[in-house]
Amino acid sequence: MSKRVLFIGDIVGKPGRQIVEQKLKTLIKQEAIDIVVANGENAAGGAGITKSIALEIKKHGVDAITLGDHVWDQKGFEIDIDQLDFVCRPANLPPECPGRRFLIIEKGDYKLGICTLMGRNFMKIPADNAFSCIDEILPELKETCDAVMVEVHAEATSEKVAMGFYLDGQVSLVVGTHTHIPTADAKVLPNGTAYLSDAGMTGPYQSVLGREVMPVIDRFKDGMPRKFPVAEGDIQLWGCLVTINEFGLAQSIRQIQLGENILHM
Ligand SMILES: [Fe+2]
Ligand SMILES: [Fe+2]
Repeated sequence: MSKRVLFIGDIVGKPGRQIVEQKLKTLIKQEAIDIVVANGENAAGGAGITKSIALEIKKHGVDAITLGDHVWDQKGFEIDIDQLDFVCRPANLPPECPGRRFLIIEKGDYKLGICTLMGRNFMKIPADNAFSCIDEILPELKETCDAVMVEVHAEATSEKVAMGFYLDGQVSLVVGTHTHIPTADAKVLPNGTAYLSDAGMTGPYQSVLGREVMPVIDRFKDGMPRKFPVAEGDIQLWGCLVTINEFGLAQSIRQIQLGENILHM
């Protein structure tokens, strides 16, 4: 029997959380979604996440929360993360880091394995090799779960595409996050893995990656430090919806975009 999994791109600040609250439960019903996974690395004021915000997002219908390079931005989260059994940190962070390397989310008798891998190009946080990391984790996930999805949290599309082909035929979905810009390359790869270079963000699109425009422009001009408040205009939810077959591979992938302004293409 097939299952429908929604992945939601980086939730940014209060605007991102609000659109999840407003739209997700209806979307789950309309699209008969079985499991929802969301990246929450920017959910707290644009940088990191807290225990209470993670619980709030879960209440809105999200079953599992993944993170990225902003994982430790909120003070105290390095202690709280171990209490949250629906939250995982990137798997290839140094082994000394707290938090789960992957999640196994159970819905009825169905088990979905979830894991985030950090890219190493242009990223400011140290991470081990993503390919060796997934080689180490995947056998356990595949043995335990009906399907596995892998998120690649990376700046470089080359790292994301390479991981997509590396895992093609082994997992249901390889989806990119971190750039906050949705890409137009959703597809099912030849051996049955759904792929998307970047899911995009869930937050204000009248912004530079979720932050107010002018402070970012000024920073590029003078290079001086300043605050980058979360923006407020054009709030959209972006992600992808994957239908997974009985073999744990993808039947289809479709991008999801909800919000006031529909893009004109
Ligand atoms: Fe992000
Ligand atoms: Fe990130």
